[in-house]
Amino acid sequence: MKNLDSFPRVSLGVFPTPIQKLPNISRLLHTNVYVKRDDLTGLGLGGNKTRKLEYLMADAKEHGAKLVFTTGGAQSNHAMLTAAAAARLGMEAILILKKRGVTERVGNRLLEHLMGTEVIFLDTDSYADVYDEMDRIGAERGVPYYKIPCGGSNAIGTLGYVRCAREISEQGIPFDHLICAEGSGGTMAGLALGAKLFLPGTKVHGMMVDTDPFDVITPALMRETAALLEADVRIGTDDFDLRDMCGPGYAVASEEGNAAVRLMAGQEGLFLDPVYTGKAFAGLLDMAEEGAFRETDRVLFLHSGGAGGLFAVGT
Ligand SMILES: Cc1ncc(COP(=O)(O)O)c(C=O)c1O
Repeated sequence: MKNLDSFPRVSLGVFPTPIQKLPNISRLLHTNVYVKRDDLTGLGLGGNKTRKLEYLMADAKEHGAKLVFTTGGAQSNHAMLTAAAAARLGMEAILILKKRGVTERVGNRLLEHLMGTEVIFLDTDSYADVYDEMDRIGAERGVPYYKIPCGGSNAIGTLGYVRCAREISEQGIPFDHLICAEGSGGTMAGLALGAKLFLPGTKVHGMMVDTDPFDVITPALMRETAALLEADVRIGTDDFDLRDMCGPGYAVASEEGNAAVRLMAGQEGLFLDPVYTGKAFAGLLDMAEEGAFRETDRVLFLHSGGAGGLFAVGT
């Protein structure tokens, strides 16, 4: 297998991110709950995309790109962090966002405004339209450009979360369960593949916050990333566990998710977001209620960021 360090990577974040025990939530749930603070990755307001962008922006540079495009919904954390990464690296970013969700200058839109990022809204539900528009504008600009897919969830971006699993293994606490939000798939696929490689006793649970077929997307992305790493692993359905936590829709707050945001804030003074981490933490609470965790278990919750969304979508 290739070493993760052998792939081009730019430094954008502060790693390792801390792992902290949540004493009050642990007491409430009669188990041991820890949080991996990927809300503190150090670029922008933090979040999971920094790890993916370290590999994706390096690949863009390797391809000689001066301009990067990416996409997502109107309040995409990924798009905002891509613009932040481009700013740091002295590159230009153009965000072609679907005109879906909160388009006003609040949350991530405000942060993009502060960075002076060029944002174009496309009134479409099709990412094919968005990628065509990137090619059209890229050709018009006449500079070498690089297209980062929605959520940074291709095999290169996914390397970032394989690396996160390796980082967790190096932090020395053995976990029985690792829980994360699944929105475009790269975080979950990277952690699930990374767990196979570096955390053999840990079961990874993806809390789906969108309605895409993640039972297909997750193993496909795990296989593609394993191929990139030349890792000799077999990916099967028992390598990951999925739970539908989408509620009323992608980027629409759910009652359960909002209650989880308030619980974490009130008990531990940590802020989740209504679109990803709140819904994911609600999934962890459901699992605890169903008796999925023993008193001696160690459960790690990935706080993947999303602060921008908290101020746009609200709870
Ligand atoms: C805060 C936050 N958490 C989790 C996710 C989900 O990660 P992924 O898109 O890799 O599934 C995202 C994706 O946009 C996010 O912004």
